Amino acid sequence: MPSSSQTLAATPPMGWNSWNMFGDKIDEASLRETADALVSLGFKDCGYDYLVIDDCWSVKTGRDSHGDLLPDPEKFPSGLKAMVDYVHGKGLKIGIYSDAAERTCAGYPGSYGSEEQDAHFWAGLGFDFLKYDYCNAPQEQAVARERYARMGAALRGSGREFLYSLCEWGNLAPHLWGRGVGGHMWRVSGDVFDSWVNVWMNTWYGIGVDVSLDIANDLHEYGGPGGWNDLDMLVVGLKGKGQISGNGMSFVEYQTHMSLWCMACSPLMIGCDVRKLDQETASLLLNREVLAVNQDALGLPARRVKQAGGCEIWKKPLADGSTALALINRGSQGSDVLLKSRDAGLLDTPKLVRNLWSQQDVADFTLELTQRVQPHETVLLKIGS
Ligand code: GLA
Repeated sequence: MPSSSQTLAATPPMGWNSWNMFGDKIDEASLRETADALVSLGFKDCGYDYLVIDDCWSVKTGRDSHGDLLPDPEKFPSGLKAMVDYVHGKGLKIGIYSDAAERTCAGYPGSYGSEEQDAHFWAGLGFDFLKYDYCNAPQEQAVARERYARMGAALRGSGREFLYSLCEWGNLAPHLWGRGVGGHMWRVSGDVFDSWVNVWMNTWYGIGVDVSLDIANDLHEYGGPGGWNDLDMLVVGLKGKGQISGNGMSFVEYQTHMSLWCMACSPLMIGCDVRKLDQETASLLLNREVLAVNQDALGLPARRVKQAGGCEIWKKPLADGSTALALINRGSQGSDVLLKSRDAGLLDTPKLVRNLWSQQDVADFTLELTQRVQPHETVLLKIGS
């Protein structure tokens, strides 16, 4: 029988993370309401089962007399243990955040040099997940590996099972060493903004969804059961609001974003305010047929198999022998995308086709099929035999 640590992150982790919407404005009331909404609105039933508290949860000035991190009493008046218990009481798991340096990205105390103490602290409170950032740390691969390995070992020695999420943004190739240091997912880019194109922030780029497509394709072979390329938290539903910048995207752009994250086997960490869920956003986050592509047991990230003009075809083999295909239009004109069996490596035999976003069967085909794809839209198909 496999131990539970072998099955942890067997499929891409799913959940909700506080950063994209709330930034430093987290508090126990909002987080409890979020946990309630994850359950009552059907997110948990669809597999979103982690609630992750990102940066800014502790007291900025330092640690207590025992050297423990200090949860901010204004943000968590009932204490962090009560928060953990509440989330567990909802049948969800809960995550926390720190950084492999003396300070986090937002300037709160980090865990460098206190890895074991902090891992024991979080384990004692009952946390299940750690997102470990890399702000204020040296830009050298050997140092990053060593710092992430130290925390990986500390988590393993803590007496509690942690899903370990590395947030190094892909600068030092964590896809090559993330698994080796105990990671179950590793970020492959800077922060994804609520934007189709990159956003220049004076000294660095906020990543646009269009650019994530190329990153996901370049790294597709490195993700798989137990260790996933993390394309970053979802921006679906933010619509220009919240902490993460960007002016929002159109419905079809959010749909392409969600399609890519599912095809690429990225973890799906919701970033919007699920307490104020609108119907459009629900349709994008809670489509079970689309989520099944992300959670497919084979765990094979999609790759691009054809590119013509602004249109692309991506392919992801599924465990039941069928194939998921994404027809993506990155251009600015609507386009008829021609799907030829052989281009997608499919046999010239009759095939059943289902549109996963509309959850409707499409005319079957043998040799070729044409689908209209609007600018920035993705048509997601499941092809069975
Ligand atoms: C970095 C990470 C984000 C978020 C912030 C918090 O930018 O990439 O996901 O955790 O830090 O400060």
